[in-house]
Amino acid sequence: MRTIDLFAAGALCIVPSSLLAADEVSVERGLYISIIGGCHFCHTEGYREADGKIDPEKALKGSSIGWQGPWGTTYAANLRDSAMGFNEDKWVDHLKNKVNLPPMPWYQVQAMSDGDLRSIYLYIKSLGPAGELAPFYREPGKAPRTPYVTLVPPQTPKK
Ligand code: HEC
Repeated sequence: MRTIDLFAAGALCIVPSSLLAADEVSVERGLYISIIGGCHFCHTEGYREADGKIDPEKALKGSSIGWQGPWGTTYAANLRDSAMGFNEDKWVDHLKNKVNLPPMPWYQVQAMSDGDLRSIYLYIKSLGPAGELAPFYREPGKAPRTPYVTLVPPQTPKK
């Protein structure tokens, strides 16, 4: 089996190239990347509770559970709706340059290959109607109107 050396990329492992196939662009690869990239963890409601089973009705429609921290309260966006605003080429440009508020791991998305981003686009487009948007961002100090997760490290008492 051919392998790709990821030492150069800073990862201390050898991964079979058949699992990477960065040049392939397909809905199936998009699904695969969305799983290993952890996108459903935040962007698909019920995913964590269902131990990683993707509800096709809810897949990547975003979440109404907020993430609160010093940046305010953010909501994992409805990616079906986001993708509607772009064609495949523009989507790749957009994701390569977009910086989001926490906890969105935009730096992981920026590290993806064009083939990865195109495949995610095809997968999102295959999912069906966008449905409702996720709740709107709340500024710091403004109380969220939805359930939310707090991501503030506990303060260590000063001696
Ligand atoms: C830990 C939670 C989390 C994970 C994991 C995550 N996201 Fe997000 N994502 C968010 C949040 C929260 C936002 C909204 C951030 C903001 O308001 O700036 C967001 C926003 C986005 C946006 C911007 C949408 C728009 O319309 O502006 C895109 C695109 C996106 N995520 C794609 C992805 C992809 C692709 C993955 C998987 C590789 C992923 N996200 C994984 C939480 C997450």
